[in-house]
Amino acid sequence: SHRVTLGPLVAAIDQGTSSTRFLVFNSKTAELLSHHQVELKQSFPKEGWVEEDPKEILQSVYECMERTCEKLTQLNIDISNIKAIGVTNQRETTLVWDKETGEPLYNAIVWLDLRTQSTVERLINKTPGRNKNHLKHKTGLPISTYFSAVKLRWLMDNVDEVHQAVVSHRAMFGTVDSWLIWCLTGGKSGGVHCTDVTNASRTMLFNIHTLDWDPELCKYFGIPMEILPRVRSSSEIYGLMKSGALSGIPISGCLGDQSAALVGQMCFQDGQAKNTYGTGCFLLRNTGAKPVMSDHGLLTTVAYQLGRDKPACYALEGSVAIAGAVVRWLRDNLGIIGSSEELEKLAASVGTSYGCYFVPAFSGLYAPYWEPSARGIICGLTQFTNKSHVAFAALEAVCFQTREILDAMNQDSGIPLTQLQVDGGMTSNKLLMQLQADILCIPVVKPSMPETTALGAAMAAGAAEGVSVWSLSPEDLSAVTSEKFEPQINPDESEFRYARWKRAVQKSMNWET
Ligand code: G3P
Repeated sequence: SHRVTLGPLVAAIDQGTSSTRFLVFNSKTAELLSHHQVELKQSFPKEGWVEEDPKEILQSVYECMERTCEKLTQLNIDISNIKAIGVTNQRETTLVWDKETGEPLYNAIVWLDLRTQSTVERLINKTPGRNKNHLKHKTGLPISTYFSAVKLRWLMDNVDEVHQAVVSHRAMFGTVDSWLIWCLTGGKSGGVHCTDVTNASRTMLFNIHTLDWDPELCKYFGIPMEILPRVRSSSEIYGLMKSGALSGIPISGCLGDQSAALVGQMCFQDGQAKNTYGTGCFLLRNTGAKPVMSDHGLLTTVAYQLGRDKPACYALEGSVAIAGAVVRWLRDNLGIIGSSEELEKLAASVGTSYGCYFVPAFSGLYAPYWEPSARGIICGLTQFTNKSHVAFAALEAVCFQTREILDAMNQDSGIPLTQLQVDGGMTSNKLLMQLQADILCIPVVKPSMPETTALGAAMAAGAAEGVSVWSLSPEDLSAVTSEKFEPQINPDESEFRYARWKRAVQKSMNWET
């Protein structure tokens, strides 16, 4: 039946922190036709360090592509209908490779990694008034372990291969989008070294006003500009796939995953917002053509630029480092669940944390605190507390953290959100969604097609000049059905628990100083 209704197809690579996916959409209906997902290994070589293998990341992309193509063939869908590929990715994660050998020179340092904590503290102490927002007027960001510049500096200072490659002009720096696009378009034989404005805006080397690398910022961090990728818009043809079943297809969309979710949720108007529950949790609110600086610990970031001649749109962002990652931690480190699905059952079996609070500050605290010295705590324990209560507290932590950034967002904009649009893996957890509505005291709305991050990247790829197969407008798509969770508990109860959470957060601070 598909054969009749099929329009051109558009694909997306969604390379997240915890997994890689390849997804194929029908450009006429935005229907998801097929996809494949592979979980990624993470290594924690030292306390606070988080790394991933760049080759495994690339391999996982190839594997997902192959398997998805096989599935399409089984569905009788001709893969030659795929007209464009978009890339969306975990942001900030930092890679350096050798352009002559094509080899990565170290593991990817994941955004969550804390190895640069002392460097960050030293940099902040050197600024006038010990101000972590010293570079915010240009970057929209506080000086933090989160962003790429300090990770890149660490690589240059601590990895001899990186240092040598930089000195001999063989080094290329990139976030995951750059690494993938370079490899997929030919690697050492002619690969394209580029990134898009959204990914660039997370490096701390990028001026969000001029939309270009900033020589002063590069000097501040001691980064030679020749190792940086070329910055392009989020929707244009960067290059063609060099090998495999999809060889010759243009890669024509590139967006950091949180930006892609904003696009996929159709938040194109000033004031529209979405919250994505992935490894971390990220609430972005579109502020239109104007970068708005936060007074409440939010980031100012480039939301998207959908074409070379199009203006950039900006967003205010509240970033929470640990959301889905707490589920993986309960599975892999504590072993109290065998799979993420089990968490919902376990938590639902008690329906309360029984006064237990879990602040998962594994990578310090991000928005609104930006406190690298915080560490995780579980508190409020009694003899009565069991693993189900801890499971419940873990889910509640995700909701409280979202509440903190929603409050900051509302204070910054002065116009409170009346409902929250959500997406991402954890939104399949109905208990979590209900808890979220209860703790925010506003409805939570979830689209029926949860893969909004991939959809956003596919839209950018399909709409690019020279591809132009994406004909759906936001109006066509905003009609899609969604599920709504209404607050069900008494707001006083919600405030009481939130106040307790805030006390727990205070206890997690200044631990590792
Ligand atoms: O800033 C990090 C973010 O882009 C990672 O997203 O979905 O892997 O949690 P996710």
